[in-house]
Amino acid sequence: PFGLKDAFEGKFLIGTALNMNQIWRSHQAPIKVLKQHFNSIVAENSMKSMFLQPREGEFNFKNADLFVEFGKKNDMEIIGHTLIWHSQAPRWFFSDKEGQDVSREVLIERMRQHIHTVVSRYKGQIKGWDVVNEVILDNGEWRKSKFYEIIGDDFIKLAFQFAHEADPEAELYYNDYNTAIPAKREGIGRVIKQILDSGGRVDAIGMQEHHGLHFPSLNEVENSIKYFSNLGVDVMVTEMDISVLPHARPNAGANISDTSAFRKELNPYPDGLPDDVMLQLGKRYIDFFRLYLKHQDKISRVTLWGISDKDSWLNNFPVRGRTNYPLLFDRQYNPKPFVKEIIALAKE
Ligand code: G3I
Repeated sequence: PFGLKDAFEGKFLIGTALNMNQIWRSHQAPIKVLKQHFNSIVAENSMKSMFLQPREGEFNFKNADLFVEFGKKNDMEIIGHTLIWHSQAPRWFFSDKEGQDVSREVLIERMRQHIHTVVSRYKGQIKGWDVVNEVILDNGEWRKSKFYEIIGDDFIKLAFQFAHEADPEAELYYNDYNTAIPAKREGIGRVIKQILDSGGRVDAIGMQEHHGLHFPSLNEVENSIKYFSNLGVDVMVTEMDISVLPHARPNAGANISDTSAFRKELNPYPDGLPDDVMLQLGKRYIDFFRLYLKHQDKISRVTLWGISDKDSWLNNFPVRGRTNYPLLFDRQYNPKPFVKEIIALAKE
């Protein structure tokens, strides 16, 4: 059956994040939707360092192997996510036996070991890696992560270098959220330009695109697409979803550190998404897909962060137990009404 991936053929790949629950149990519904609509997959969690190397030198590739096998069997372009991230990194990574921070040399060596081991295991099987995730803050400054504090700002250049050594054919990406905020956009640009100027390899900047109904503006997203492309790299939409609940992002009118507001309304639509909100959501999706199509010469992949609303991380962020509706397929894995409009848009 004809799906999103067919509609966008020759324009960009259509991807989704997959979790192990879907792969392990081989649930019929998600797998059927996956095969019809998507031609690229990324592991939602199972390639993060806390799962791959829970203790120093002890790698656990069980789930990651299954994920890659699954992708190969189903002819998907497979994306690796993510090698260097401050979150979901095991605590041992940064400390010695006494719990003190390790030295710069030791942390660089641990980074090298981790990246070399993981990337070389899947050499030739992974199309590209999110090498570095979320190291620039919304104000454009460095996130003061352990990587930054212990190694200094060249940790990012080293990470790209190690990944390239381990699989010279793999594409290498920088991935971040809120990339439409001008200060953050420029902060990312500054860092990536430095790596490129010094002869490092970065193939693309991944714009995660965790949107709300009203934030960010299309205009600022477009500015970022152009700005990143002008650096000489591809642009990818790597984690798209659109929250219909109060949106926990800066400038979105919500204060994320005060979770009581979010807790009050865990499920404002107990009878399902009302028609007017569905229309709003559809319009927002169409607007973004129209924008991505306009820039199809710059954008090589559009990945959704999950298949159905049931699987979305946004049911648990910023507080647990929300009922959100951020994706293209509903909780029964039926396409939302606007999916056919997105398909039609691609044919225009
Ligand atoms: O592994 C434990 C499990 O042992 C435990 O029983 C269970 C109970 O809550 O939790 C499991 O860990 C969860 C993990 O996902 C794996 O399922 C964490 O609680 C949960 O917080 C974690 O959330 C993931 C989140 O990254 C972590 O920051 C989301 O599923 C995942 O969608 C999200 O993805 C990130 C991207 O990697 C980077 N960009 C932002 C995006 C959304 O936050």
